[in-house]
Amino acid sequence: MNAVGPSGQALADSRELVRRIGAEIDAAGGSIGFDRYMQRVLYEPGLGYYTGPNRVFGADGDFVTAPEMSSLFGRCIATQCAQWLGGSGEIVEFGAGSGALAAQLLSALRDAHALPRAYAIVELSATLRERQREAIAAAGEELLARVRWLDELPRRIDGVVLANEVLDAMPVRVFRLAGTVVYERLVSLADDGSLGWAERVADERFAARVRERLGQAWSAGADDARGFDGDADASVDSAPLGYVSELGEQAEAWVATVGSRLVRGAMLLIDYGFPRREFYHPQRDQGTLRCHFRHRAHDDPFLWPGLQDVTAHVDFSGVAEAAAGAGLDTLGYASQARFLLDCGLLEACVALPREDPVGWTRETQAVQRLLSEAEMGELFKAIAFGRGVPDDAVGFRTRDRRASL
Ligand SMILES: C[S@@+](CC[C@H](N)C(=O)[O-])C[C@H]1O[C@@H](n2cnc3c(N)ncnc32)[C@H](O)[C@@H]1O
Repeated sequence: MNAVGPSGQALADSRELVRRIGAEIDAAGGSIGFDRYMQRVLYEPGLGYYTGPNRVFGADGDFVTAPEMSSLFGRCIATQCAQWLGGSGEIVEFGAGSGALAAQLLSALRDAHALPRAYAIVELSATLRERQREAIAAAGEELLARVRWLDELPRRIDGVVLANEVLDAMPVRVFRLAGTVVYERLVSLADDGSLGWAERVADERFAARVRERLGQAWSAGADDARGFDGDADASVDSAPLGYVSELGEQAEAWVATVGSRLVRGAMLLIDYGFPRREFYHPQRDQGTLRCHFRHRAHDDPFLWPGLQDVTAHVDFSGVAEAAAGAGLDTLGYASQARFLLDCGLLEACVALPREDPVGWTRETQAVQRLLSEAEMGELFKAIAFGRGVPDDAVGFRTRDRRASL
């Protein structure tokens, strides 16, 4: 990977970030939680992956998200939003990335005469805010006039909350189960100044949460545990390192907090992940933590800190529990493919103008990637929660899987 690795200022920035994290590790007595490490490598002001100067989205970045691939993604989300907005209300988008989704959504809602009262964006990265402003302005100055950026969570939300691929970018805690002992995986500093894994026996509270979740997953998933003779514990013990996985506490806390501020309307979250029994499947014994650098995926979170993406999949059952705790109803859960099809993706694809064959081919190939089970169609899910809205969301009409959560 070194042949395509970073150089110059980027490497110097990464070294500075390692130095700062090392100082925190020293001050903390030798290690910090992986969640704290992930927070700093992604969001350290000026040096984090999302807060530094490097371009992370798109063909010249490290990964491509759905709105970057096709404008039809935003059109489909607009169909769902229009139903929930019902002619009033605002949209609050979290982690708006390059601004592509906001631009597509506002353009589609303008065309449908269904613009929201306002469009608020909550974004942690100042660099990205500027890029979002440019993308929305390119779609129309009158659209930009409706948009405002918030530095903190709104106190009350009446309308629609959106977050595409945001939960996977929230810091996670990592654990390892060996026999009956739960260890928390930590980050420490080696003598040569490099960062790496360490671990300690988990505190009681964390260990209890891990055991509770694995217990639920493995009893609910006993039928799925083929190849393990139905004995999930034996299989887990036979894994060389024990069973390693993550707990997305911050994502769940975020859903609970934002959900509690939703006074009327819906929250639509799209991301990659599984219901609990699949997330913690005995065979998934190395967890879901993944890193991306220039379109290559790997699993070393200590490579070039601050210059590569670090993510974890979403336990959608945990997210649904957090939403229920905030008093929200679950409005639907489906694969991204089913959700987009129910929102009219094929009809929008058929209606694409064909005068520009290159553009048409690009769009239809992107639609194929959004829908294909081998790409984003099945791994990515859409989940929605609501308060005071009818349980008839258009995106979950035909294949609602909420019973699997
Ligand atoms: C993988 S990117 C997805 C960007 C965009 N939604 C898209 O689909 O292209 C993750 C984004 O989530 C943002 N993010 C992470 N945690 C956040 C939080 N608590 N509040 C707002 N944005 C957050 C990051 O700054 C980044 O812009």
